[in-house]
Amino acid sequence: MLKKSITVTDNRNGKTYEYPVLRASRGPDVADIRTFYKDTGMFTYDPGFTSTASCESKITFIDGDKGELLYRGIEIENLANEYTYLEVCFLLLKGRLPDKKEALEFDLEIRHRSFVHEGLTNLIGSFPDNAHPMSILSSSVSALASFYYEHLDINNEAEYHEMAMRIIAKIPTLAAFAYRHSLGIPLIYPNISKSFSENFLYMMRAYPHDKLKITSEGELEIKQVEIDALDTIFTLHADHEQNASTTTVRGVASTGAHPYVAISAGISALWGRAHGGANESVIAQLEMIGDVKNIPKFIEKAKDKNDPFRLMGFGHRVYKNFDPRAKVLKKLQDRLKDEMKMDAKLLEIAHEIEQIALNDDYFISRNLYPNIDFYSGVVLYALKIPRNMFTPIFVIGRTVGWIAQWIEFKKDPLSKIARPRQLYTGK
Ligand code: CMC
Repeated sequence: MLKKSITVTDNRNGKTYEYPVLRASRGPDVADIRTFYKDTGMFTYDPGFTSTASCESKITFIDGDKGELLYRGIEIENLANEYTYLEVCFLLLKGRLPDKKEALEFDLEIRHRSFVHEGLTNLIGSFPDNAHPMSILSSSVSALASFYYEHLDINNEAEYHEMAMRIIAKIPTLAAFAYRHSLGIPLIYPNISKSFSENFLYMMRAYPHDKLKITSEGELEIKQVEIDALDTIFTLHADHEQNASTTTVRGVASTGAHPYVAISAGISALWGRAHGGANESVIAQLEMIGDVKNIPKFIEKAKDKNDPFRLMGFGHRVYKNFDPRAKVLKKLQDRLKDEMKMDAKLLEIAHEIEQIALNDDYFISRNLYPNIDFYSGVVLYALKIPRNMFTPIFVIGRTVGWIAQWIEFKKDPLSKIARPRQLYTGK
């Protein structure tokens, strides 16, 4: 029988060391090198953690070669097509899908917890009018830690539950407040008769006297297709194993800081263009390209080693074939094209870039496929969501993942403070 270990030979002195191999239930096994430094006096070097498993997790699984994403063992396409975002939240938090009664109770609890302390409205009001909603969102989530200061008892499930429900429920309210403040218009409080996704659209669009905005086409109500599309977008963003923002959340959790401060740090990490900020940059880039005739020039820029320009919404650290979330969004994009009267010119540019990149050697040889942000940018644009709210929408969806990962970290007896070492080459 094969031994479940690996042997490392130090060719400088011929010494060998044996390390156990931990079996993964799916995906690559993991070499357990926890004693490597003690054994050899050396650190391992892995900038960007391309070969490092930072924790054990039972929440989300990605097979980047197959283009597969599972939440608690269930395929993302199935979840996106068959379940609401809040049912998916239940799944991520509790490890199984809710029955009808549980789903209803969960939904009602989220609705009731969606209001925020009035003090937060003062904080939001103190930001400059043109502040980016991501900045306001990260600050106000950090501020939540002072409204709900607590030391959680790790043996008290009810405390964990309350902490998780509160943040999932309040994030859309804070995001909508941040947006309205950035426009200098009055805040709209949650309407608990509306579902999670409808309520968010309502808080963004309604007038203070409780009527929705009359669009140029005379429409008063939010369309069902918009609510469904947004709910799907939330589900697709709900978790993505140990990505940069989740790693940030776990890192902050490892110091014992308040969970909402950890989530605030995750929001900041997500804002960058290489991560969640890419969805906003995709549309900015499509508008900058402006016309299909300009695409070849930008493709050349993306391929030029001496040019920092990158095609936004292309490439992924883990997916090397296709991003299964992008597949769901592409279908949604096709549906919205007809129902939402999308800007044909922008769609044409997006489609053309996708086709050129998918057939270009540079992109093929580096496995650079359109990722979730490429399509979510276009879908959110079709939904007439303002561009500066694209990344806050990613935040709303991802909050459940961050909190589920935070809880898992806290309950893991092997969790330690995050404290990597370095290869020192200075004086
Ligand atoms: N345009 C042009 N070239 C690219 C791109 C791109 N979008 N992405 C990667 N490359 C090239 C890169 O220059 C490198 O080339 P070479 O091997 O010749 O040096 C090669 O592909 C590998 O790139 P990398 O930066 O080493 O790969 P990574 O795994 O460290 O980075 C990434 C992944 C997503 C940060 C990167 O692909 C990127 O910057 N993409 C654009 C931003 C984006 O769309 N981000 C959203 C990511 S998905 C959702 C999320 O996480 O929020």
